[in-house]
Formats: sequence, structure tokens, C-alpha cells
Amino acid sequence: MESAPFLASCAHRELLEMFVYIVAVLALWFVHRWFKELKRVANKGDKHVYITGCDSGFGHLLAKHLDKLGFCVIAGCYTEKGEDELKKASSDRLTTLHVDVTDSASVAQAAALIDALVGQKGLWAVVNNAGIGVPSAPTDWLTIEDFKSMLDVNLMGVIDVTLSVLPLIKKARGRVVNVASVFGRLSPFGGPYCVSKYGVEAFNDSLRLNLAPFGVKVLCIEPGFFKTNITNTEALENNLMKLWDRLPQDVKDDYGPDFLECSFKEISQKFKALTDSDLMKVVGCMEHAVAAIHPRTRYSPGWDAKFIWLPLSYMPTFVTDSFFLKNSPRIKASVL
Ligand SMILES: NC(=O)c1ccc[n+]([C@@H]2O[C@H](COP(=O)([O-])OP(=O)(O)OC[C@H]3O[C@@H](n4cnc5c(N)ncnc54)[C@H](OP(=O)(O)O)[C@@H]3O)[C@@H](O)[C@H]2O)c1
Repeated sequence: MESAPFLASCAHRELLEMFVYIVAVLALWFVHRWFKELKRVANKGDKHVYITGCDSGFGHLLAKHLDKLGFCVIAGCYTEKGEDELKKASSDRLTTLHVDVTDSASVAQAAALIDALVGQKGLWAVVNNAGIGVPSAPTDWLTIEDFKSMLDVNLMGVIDVTLSVLPLIKKARGRVVNVASVFGRLSPFGGPYCVSKYGVEAFNDSLRLNLAPFGVKVLCIEPGFFKTNITNTEALENNLMKLWDRLPQDVKDDYGPDFLECSFKEISQKFKALTDSDLMKVVGCMEHAVAAIHPRTRYSPGWDAKFIWLPLSYMPTFVTDSFFLKNSPRIKASVL
């Protein structure tokens, strides 16, 4: 008669032991990973890192950060002003060059300069960072030219720049670091931005497999919302207003007279709540991808990326669709 409670308490004890065992194994694994990820590559002064889009935002900060750490930074800038500002704020090791990633001649010219700079050592890393955020709007507001203009920078630019320096990267058994976005995993708004970032993810994944046999690592950064020019609410609102103004009257009627105002409110509220001004969270991940002996395949900097966007990206489609539809400005002609 006494054996039933005795068996139950044995089962409880075994469950508890199993739980403690699992927690201990997980804790050991985290500690092991933490130590492994602390190690950085040696001889930074012999390693050249080419970064695109260094005029502002993450690219500008990364160039200065890697320069301070002792890397030979080759900062690709879009404007002369960007080059001047960076030169003033960095050591003699840092070289600036002009590159427009949408112009193959400019990309090839930059690659030739880099070839001459790095010599037999090859190029340690390229960071495909240059990107734009507009035009962005509901898809039926846009033309194919709107799509092409952004895909040219955010996707074709990434591919062109990578191909232009790939032989140099292979020579150094170096790295390609691609800056995608959480919106390379989820597509909650219309227009070319998410399309371009999904494309970057696809390019990144096939490149990683193709280059693994050559000892080249391909790493992807997927930031959440951060305060840079791309997330400037005034620029985003101006872009929306410009696109609205050119719409035919029947499309304006579909959306209704309040749509634009509601969209502005949405942009300012959401961006205020979500954008993080600590850009070093992203730059720290970029630095790890470039400099760690054991970099991660993917980095998702930002609390919104970790706790909102990534979990949502693993949800069934009907859950994400209803979440995004519920949180979008109301369309006058909506049948939902
Ligand atoms: N901020 C975010 O919340 C966020 C989130 C996820 C992913 N990202 C990605 O992070 C990357 C960096 O963006 P950011 O946030 O740092 O914004 P940013 O400050 O606007 O930086 C983008 C850089 O790209 C340059 N650029 C634009 N068109 C170019 C072209 N045709 N050729 C060469 N360079 C060009 C810009 O130059 P100008 O300044 O002279 O125009 C600027 O220096 C982008 O790929 C973006 O999609 C940003």
C-alpha cells in the first residue's frame, strides 16, 4: 500500500535530477560559447577591411571602430563630404575611396584600387553595408522604377561589390559580411525594402555554402530598428507624401482622406517606441563578424529584433498576417 507514494516521490526526484542536468549542460554550453567567441584574429594591422556606405550610420561608426582596433580600413564613401569627415576622425591606416554601388564602373574602379592596396595578402573582409530605405509605400502606390531604384542599391549593389573583390577575399581566406535586416525575414510593409533584404539573405546563404570549401566565411547581420538616416521619420513622411501626391484619384479614394494622416501617426509612434539609438549594438556585431576567430553565422542586434521580429518570423502565416493587419492604418475601401 505504501509503494504508490514511494514510487511517485522517486519519479519526482528523477524528473528534478533530469531538469538540473539539462540546465547544467545548457549553462556549460553557454559558458563554452562565450569563451570561444571572445577570441579575436591576430595581426590586425596586416588585415584590410572594405566597408561600403561609410558616410553615415553603421558604416561610418564601424570604419572608425575597426580603425581604432588596428585594422587597415578601406572606407567606401558615396560623397566627398563623407570621405573628408572620416579622414579627419581616423588614423593614417584608414583609406577612403568613392564608390557608388549602383554603378559597375565605380565598383570596378574601387576594386582595382583595393587590389593595389592589399597586394599579395588579399582582402580580409568586405562589409556590404550601403543601403537606402525609400521609396517605401503600399505596393499599389509604386512603379517598377521605384522597385528597381532600391534593388539596385540594396541587392544588386551587394552582389556587384562582393563579386568585384571575391578573388581578393579568397586569397586571404577572409570574410564577406552582409547587412540584411529583420525585414529579410518578415515582410510587413509594401515596396522594395523587404524584397531587397530577402534577396540579400538568399545571396548570403548560397554564398556561404559556395565559399566554405575555400575557407571563406560569410556572415549576416539582421538589425532591428536603429536611429540612423534610414529611419528618419521626417524623410519617411516626405517620401510617403511625395508618392501620395502622384497617385491617381481612384487610388486615393480607395485609401481614403485619413490614410496619410494615420500613416504619419503610425510612423512617428512606432519609430519612437522601437528605434534604438545605441548604434554600437550593431557595430559590435559587425566587428565580431570581421574580427572574431569564431564568428556567428547570423547576428540579430536590437531588443525588437530578438523579442518581436524574430519570434514573429517563426509563427504561422495566419498569426503574422492578422498581427500586421490589426496594426496597420485603416483603408477606406477595406473589405476586412
Ligand atoms: N537603421 C536601421 O534601423 C537598419 C535596420 C536594419 C538594416 N539596416 C541596414 O543597415 C545598412 C546601413 O544603413 P544605416 O541605417 O546606417 O543608414 P544610413 O546612415 O543611411 O547609411 C547608409 C549609407 O549608404 C550610403 N549609400 C546610399 N546609396 C549609396 C550608393 N548608391 N552607393 C554607395 N553608398 C550608398 C549612404 O550614403 P549617403 O548618406 O551619402 O546617402 C549612407 O552612408 C543598410 O543596408 C540598411 O538597410 C538599417
